[in-house]
Amino acid sequence: MTTITFIHPDGREQRISATAGETAMQAATRHDIGGILAECGGNAMCATCHVYVDDAWLSRLPAMADDEDALLDGTAAERRASSRLSCQIKPSAELDGLVLHLPERQA
Ligand code: FES
Repeated sequence: MTTITFIHPDGREQRISATAGETAMQAATRHDIGGILAECGGNAMCATCHVYVDDAWLSRLPAMADDEDALLDGTAAERRASSRLSCQIKPSAELDGLVLHLPERQA
């Protein structure tokens, strides 16, 4: 089990647990975290699961694939250096405590 903290644009924090094999997006939707739409269900086609990875964690994530990189060019909120798709983040023991910031909007 991996703990993830989501920080909303208003500063509100929600800490949840992700189970093995679950992506950060799946854990967020299972816990009703607002701000993650995930319209394509995690198939890397919609970019509505956009998050900003906290600076302290950014270098610990695996590099993104080309399709994730391309999709991030079409996010509703501005793309930043810390932008990732939460459906492509697979929590692991190394990422226990991961902090993800939610963008102002997903659509
Ligand atoms: S859920 Fe659609 S790209 Fe992540």
